[in-house]
Amino acid sequence: MTGWTGARQLRATRRADMTDPASSKPFPYSIDTDPTDHATSSGSAVPDGGDNAAAADIRSRAIRSYVLRAGRMGSGQIRALATLGPQFILPYHAEHLDLAATFGREAPTVLEIGFGMGDATAQIAAHLPGSNFVGCEVHPPGVGALLQRIDERGLTNLRILQHDAVEVLDYMLAPGSLAGVHVFFPDPWHKKKHNKRRLIQPPFVARLASRLAPGGYIHCATDWQPYAEQMLEVLSADPALVNTAPDGYAPRPDYRPLTKFEARGIRLGHGVWDLVFRKREA
Ligand SMILES: C[S@@+](CC[C@H](N)C(=O)[O-])C[C@H]1O[C@@H](n2cnc3c(N)ncnc32)[C@H](O)[C@@H]1O
Repeated sequence: MTGWTGARQLRATRRADMTDPASSKPFPYSIDTDPTDHATSSGSAVPDGGDNAAAADIRSRAIRSYVLRAGRMGSGQIRALATLGPQFILPYHAEHLDLAATFGREAPTVLEIGFGMGDATAQIAAHLPGSNFVGCEVHPPGVGALLQRIDERGLTNLRILQHDAVEVLDYMLAPGSLAGVHVFFPDPWHKKKHNKRRLIQPPFVARLASRLAPGGYIHCATDWQPYAEQMLEVLSADPALVNTAPDGYAPRPDYRPLTKFEARGIRLGHGVWDLVFRKREA
């Protein structure tokens, strides 16, 4: 493997007629790799595009949106990590990723945060071959599972980052570099004392918006109504974003298949809420 192992990474970071929402707008590809864009005069890298308190909180990373649990890896997942990891897993570096070089082409790029076992991710990538996809997930069995899906479907337009999406967003993705962001069924952190762990909060949404190209979109989905309400409030309050749905929640876009967590929510009698916001053109 080219310098990557799941264990080392963990230690170090403590549908065929679908519309492609990502390609409906022009997309800029120049990647700013100027280190001054994300470094202080003292040389320490800091995230750009947010307020100081939020930046300090993210730097300290005292509050994370996930808990890493020891998950069992199946033998197929272990094999996929060994054989396909070097080709499809991008090493985390605190510097901007050259997306055109990474994918060997210039195409709209969509970031998915927290792909779980990757079933929806692989389906979307297979049905939207004109777009590039970067999937971010910290759960090792999920990474192995998505590698298996990539192999089964022969996907070439999907790469994986096994790392905290907050840091990936802050350090690896240049401002204006994304055509879209998918956040499907993020951990709802039901208890009030854990709500602070939810991903969709104002500073994080501001960062997401800063990484989008004008006209780019953020698509969130959840089966937990209080989180849906929080998402609607937070996304609506961001001045860079506009809701695509006049009534607040959007119909499920045809590119998003039902996910495992969604099917479970439906079985439990929960509703499902989709939210699709676009970044203003100027
Ligand atoms: C409830 S699961 C949903 C998985 C998938 N999107 C689905 O709908 O089946 C949330 C996933 O987000 C991942 N996650 C949470 N915070 C993350 C972060 N900061 N960076 C990367 N992955 C994260 C978790 O590991 C988990 O697999």
